Amino acid sequence: MKKKNLFFVAAIICLLSASFYLLPTASLARMMPGAITYNGTGELAPVTFSHAVHLNYGTACNDCHSKVFEKKSGAAGRAMTMKTMEEGKFCGTCHDGEYAFSVKVKTDCARCHVK
Ligand code: HEC
Ligand code: HEC
Ligand code: HEC
Repeated sequence: MKKKNLFFVAAIICLLSASFYLLPTASLARMMPGAITYNGTGELAPVTFSHAVHLNYGTACNDCHSKVFEKKSGAAGRAMTMKTMEEGKFCGTCHDGEYAFSVKVKTDCARCHVK
């Protein structure tokens, strides 16, 4: 192969590997919605769900979408209560005291219901 061709091959390999690393992060950030606030919390403080925080903790899109949550804020609606979460649905799928802090532990209520 000629030197010039070798250079092009090398350049293309570099570009491909750079986009392989950069693209997923960039497009994930673009697809990822901002914080979602839930106000149906009675006297307790509202709950804010953060996509960014959860991805930092290592959860992936398909851990939640769409077996636990639809890709639409508010879709869970009135079905998402402390009772259904304690039964292991919605946030309670993971917040069960094993995978993540529990929805049942009184000292942890304020980690979600942040004043
Ligand atoms: C993992 C996050 C999380 C934890 C931990 C949590 N909650 Fe909630 N809580 C929510 C969400 C989400 C809602 C639903 C809000 C909505 O639908 O608008 C909610 C709703 C509520 C409501 C409204 C009525 C109902 O039953 O849905 C009360 C009362 C409540 N929580 C009390 C508590 C108490 C007490 C604790 C601690 C024992 C607690 N929560 C722990 C996320 C949490
Ligand atoms: C830990 C769980 C979890 C993970 C992981 C997660 N999501 Fe979500 N996502 C939610 C919840 C909760 C909602 C709101 C659903 C509801 O209120 O019923 C939501 C809503 C959405 C929405 C709709 C937003 C709107 O304003 O209607 C999109 C789009 C979305 N998610 C994309 C993603 C993408 C892309 C990823 C991966 C980068 C991701 N989600 C990872 C829990 C998660
Ligand atoms: C796919 C699993 C999964 C689901 C579903 C999930 N979480 Fe989490 N969440 C985690 C993990 C893992 C952590 C970090 C571990 C820990 O702190 O115990 C976490 C941490 C958090 C934190 C602590 C953030 C911080 O650093 O202060 C909050 C608040 C929270 N989740 C709220 C919610 C709410 C509200 C929902 C439902 C709308 C929800 N999570 C659904 C896995 C999940």
